[in-house]
Amino acid sequence: MQNLSNADVRDIETIIHPYTNLAAHRETGPTVIERGEGVHVWDNNGKRYIEGLAGLWCTSLGYGNGELIEAAREQMSRISFTHLFGGKSHESAIELAEKLKEIVPGKASKVFFTSSGSEANDIQIKLAWYYNNARGKPQKKKIISRDKAYHGVTIATASLTGLAPCHIDFDLPMARILHADCPHHYRGAEPGESEEDFATRLAENLEALIEKENPDTVAAFIAEPVMGAGGVIVPPRTYFEKIQAVLARHDILMIADEVICGFGRTGRMFGSETLGIRPDTISVAKALTSAYVPLGGVTVGEDVYQAMLDESRKIGTFGHGTTYSGHPLGCAVAVKVLEIMERDKIVEHVQSVASVFETRLKALGEHPLVGEARGVGLIGAVELVRDKNTKAQYDPKAGVAAKAAQFCQDEGLIVRNLAGDAVAICPPLTITGGEINALFDMMEHGLDKTLDWARREVE
Ligand SMILES: Cc1ncc(COP(=O)(O)O)c(C=O)c1O
Repeated sequence: MQNLSNADVRDIETIIHPYTNLAAHRETGPTVIERGEGVHVWDNNGKRYIEGLAGLWCTSLGYGNGELIEAAREQMSRISFTHLFGGKSHESAIELAEKLKEIVPGKASKVFFTSSGSEANDIQIKLAWYYNNARGKPQKKKIISRDKAYHGVTIATASLTGLAPCHIDFDLPMARILHADCPHHYRGAEPGESEEDFATRLAENLEALIEKENPDTVAAFIAEPVMGAGGVIVPPRTYFEKIQAVLARHDILMIADEVICGFGRTGRMFGSETLGIRPDTISVAKALTSAYVPLGGVTVGEDVYQAMLDESRKIGTFGHGTTYSGHPLGCAVAVKVLEIMERDKIVEHVQSVASVFETRLKALGEHPLVGEARGVGLIGAVELVRDKNTKAQYDPKAGVAAKAAQFCQDEGLIVRNLAGDAVAICPPLTITGGEINALFDMMEHGLDKTLDWARREVE
């Protein structure tokens, strides 16, 4: 057991931490974060860190942004809460929905607000079902996700998520959710198979899955443009073009989960634009408010909206909504985030510093511990391996990526270890070239220490 402070003990005795080894946490205690400014946060011992994961891939405009704080204060003093049920409305929600309709890829007819990414994807499933009932296709209900996808933690969205800890002993995935292949060339390609050929094979596998299930039973396919929590997996060239051709042949909706990739992360406003996706609908959250307050949402295409109108006439109401769907605080902050992004040319900034990020990331690929360094824009990961040539992994029980994240944290860099011994990097979009270099310097030191440790303790 480490030296635990009073705050540590209070934490351990009171809080259940999400995605944490609860048993190990009792020994190590928490890292208590106290304040933030720009790309930095400080813990309760005064130690400064670069927030190399932007919180949870979300604090895109960094910490302590006075304009966002003022937008929140102003909204709360004007009207702290009003809702959208029964036709009530408020200006911040209207303004935000107008803005989203203008900027999202594909044709959005309307926007439905939620409080999180999980809720956004959850309603995507409900809408796909509702839509197919409305258009007289009650059998067309299955949703295809992918191995290693991350779409949330509600019963339905944890089922979409393709990661074992979200299923084991939660009795998931639920019925009518299927998983297609993970588009990871480094791990999934046959020897010598090109990215294009790998993409073709995955599209063929998808079509075979749809045909086996019967296309009349498949409603939608959901995908993150770049998989985040599954290991920052950038799909192979031509992947989405080939996948979408299959979906179009079988009248299957394409849902783009833009919860991480949306709002500049990949160097375009939306990941769909970077990866060549033409979505029928998208889910957003996280950077929509730069995580100053919770807010998510989905865009609804005209066909689905017309079906919702028909159902409303038949049933008497659209029977979905949570108290905080379109909370004024979230909407006001999101309006300000989008204004700042436009005014300060944040997407252009990402494009200009992405070359530093990509160069340094690629260089990490040379590290003896790194099997693959991958990423796009300002999101990346390194996958740690025992043997670069054979791609052999460490025993997952050794916790090599967790150890690397800890060594980086000791250096003053917060990053996140993911399944498959990946370590993810996803800093605030406002990061400068100098700060990117500082981030990678710390990461290099952290990996050096991890290698020493692994040679001593693991091999
Ligand atoms: C791609 C993606 N979709 C959905 C979610 C779920 O969002 P939330 O944690 O806000 O429910 C996440 C969370 O990390 C995510 O990365």
